[in-house]
Amino acid sequence: MASTSPGRFVTFEGGEGAGKSTQIARLAARLEAVGLRVLRTREPGGTEEAEAIRRLLLEGRAERWTPTAELLLVAAARAEHLARVIEPALEAGVWVLCDRYLDSTRVYQGLAGGVGLERVDRLQREVLDFRLPDLTILLDLPVEVGLARRRAAGAGSRFERKGPAFHARVREGFRMLAAAEPERIALVDADRPLEEIEAAILALLRARFGIDA
Ligand SMILES: Nc1ncnc2c1ncn2[C@@H]1O[C@H](COP(=O)(O)OP(=O)(O)OP(=O)(O)O)[C@@H](O)[C@H]1O
Ligand SMILES: [Mg+2]
Repeated sequence: MASTSPGRFVTFEGGEGAGKSTQIARLAARLEAVGLRVLRTREPGGTEEAEAIRRLLLEGRAERWTPTAELLLVAAARAEHLARVIEPALEAGVWVLCDRYLDSTRVYQGLAGGVGLERVDRLQREVLDFRLPDLTILLDLPVEVGLARRRAAGAGSRFERKGPAFHARVREGFRMLAAAEPERIALVDADRPLEEIEAAILALLRARFGIDA
């Protein structure tokens, strides 16, 4: 039976080890506890084919791909994920919580990778017509704190090996996007205990969507 309430599309962004996966799991549990249907998914990935692209992107040497090739691989994975998973879920009234989405592309390939924000945005907007999230949570924390968390948790991705200057550009890039689109992208201080971050995210969702989670 189709749901009468609309699904919401919430994306989580931030650098390596920011706590995206941790907070998505916590938020999903809170939303499910008030009876909402939730889909947790991630990018690049989220379908069998897009996960195959993910492996191409995340494994191997830091310099394996040029930023433009990276952009096109991410975009191909996103087209699959949107059409086959995200859009159908939202139409069925499911809340979609996505670990990274188009702002990661704007930052990793556009601002930090050197493709340029304008080129990335043009591709995403004009060629692919990607759907914008209803809300984006940007988990912001100092680069060293995130990388230390990541290392303590186990092996990271090809992007983790890109060096400190790259990660500094990633953080600055995300902060710039949040400042430019404050109505969509909420910057959350992620350099504090898990529970405080979780409470801040819940408060944002209550204010934005009127839920009582
Ligand atoms: N607020 C926090 N304080 C301390 N440690 C944390 C906090 N949030 C997450 N962690 C720990 O840091 C590690 C990285 O967290 P998590 O995997 O959620 O980050 P992520 O943003 O998903 O990282 P990645 O970009 O690598 O996927 C995990 O071991 C997690 O338990
Ligand atoms: Mg993660």
